[in-house]
Amino acid sequence: MSNKSITVHRTTHGLKGDLRIPGDKSISHRVAILGALAHGSMKVSNYLCSEDCLNTLNAMQQLGATVIASDSPDCFTLIGTGLQVKAPQTDIDCGNSGTGMRLMAGVLAALPFESRMFGDESLSKRPMKRIMTPLGLMGADITACGEKEGCAPLKIQGSPLHPIEYTLPMASAQVKSAILLAGMLTPGTTTVHQPALTRDHTERLFSHFNVPYTVSDDGLHISVHGAAKLTAKDITVPGDISSAAFWIVAACIIPDSELTLRNVGLNPTRNAIITVLKRMGADIEINIHSEQGEPYGDLTVRYSPQLHGTEVYSHEIPNLIDEIPILAVAAAYAQGTTIIRNAKELRVKESDRIATTVGNLLAMGAKVAEFEDGMEITGGASLHGTILDSYGDHRIAMSFLIAGLQADGETTLLHCENINTSYPGFEQHLTQLIQA
Ligand code: S3P
Repeated sequence: MSNKSITVHRTTHGLKGDLRIPGDKSISHRVAILGALAHGSMKVSNYLCSEDCLNTLNAMQQLGATVIASDSPDCFTLIGTGLQVKAPQTDIDCGNSGTGMRLMAGVLAALPFESRMFGDESLSKRPMKRIMTPLGLMGADITACGEKEGCAPLKIQGSPLHPIEYTLPMASAQVKSAILLAGMLTPGTTTVHQPALTRDHTERLFSHFNVPYTVSDDGLHISVHGAAKLTAKDITVPGDISSAAFWIVAACIIPDSELTLRNVGLNPTRNAIITVLKRMGADIEINIHSEQGEPYGDLTVRYSPQLHGTEVYSHEIPNLIDEIPILAVAAAYAQGTTIIRNAKELRVKESDRIATTVGNLLAMGAKVAEFEDGMEITGGASLHGTILDSYGDHRIAMSFLIAGLQADGETTLLHCENINTSYPGFEQHLTQLIQA
């Protein structure tokens, strides 16, 4: 783990200004994967140039896709293989990314060669059986070679698969997408039933790339009809609402703030952070620019002195799963109690985010109780700065840097290097807003 640390102090003024939030991480991974398999070329704009998404783009180049750079690193032309893929010459490095590894596993399992994927220390401890089981039912040959049982590195002997109908044991867009991507490359109809709505970027991109699929009215049952021929088409990736969430909360809790966040993705399977914060009394104005494909718009967020606690409903959990650490920070600065339950999935993210969020809030003086599947935060205690570990988890690092902006004294976050896995410009945006 790296030893980069970042220190912040309580800000003496509100945060003001405009920010362009970098591209959505989930969508960027999927654009790279689908674009690489498609026929033809496409211009990709606002791709997230974070370590995670660049690793996936590199992997796709190893399979034969071509990337033609432009003046701007987040815009490039992607020339697809039209499924004339080649075996990777070296093991695929997924870095810190569970999304990259799990989604690519679905694709590699159906391609006619052997491949291997590995990741960093955190990724090598995260569960892969959740994708190995359904892909195994499709006939995939995947071996988890890690020190920890069922974990990466993964060895995949690709082969033709057969379609399945599968009920997800947990609400996971990664598992859903791994199966749908494998199904897309497999003749016949592959169906996934999910217990709750999860982010539907894969499905929306199926429409974009002309992949035939059907989805039930309630969104819970998705069938993909393979083997599909994908057609490339230009795309602009919207800003990542999970990255915007840090600034949304910052503006809500810091007196005299007003921030406008441009072109933020507002996909209804991702926007519960806005719904929940508004329920808590947050002053968030939404100006939608487009409802096509992936909806997006501008958000203007103002200091919200009446912020109060709430209960997060179980159906909202998958929709804001990555925002829970920063939501917990908002709850600590709100009046009253916030209850977050049914969020056990947080224990298998880049860190055990229930333990790391609760531990850091307690260290700052917040009143928090930890549950196996969540936490209860009683807001209103005055928080103080201290030295905190981010455990190499980008979202823990950014959440507690925001918490530090409104805490007494100095807050130092250790092991912050992984902020680059999702939000490479975060520190620059932080400095810009503090110094404004
Ligand atoms: C993601 C899905 C979520 C989320 C992750 C990205 C995706 O994980 O936490 O950051 O892009 O599909 P799960 O599907 O495992 O819940």
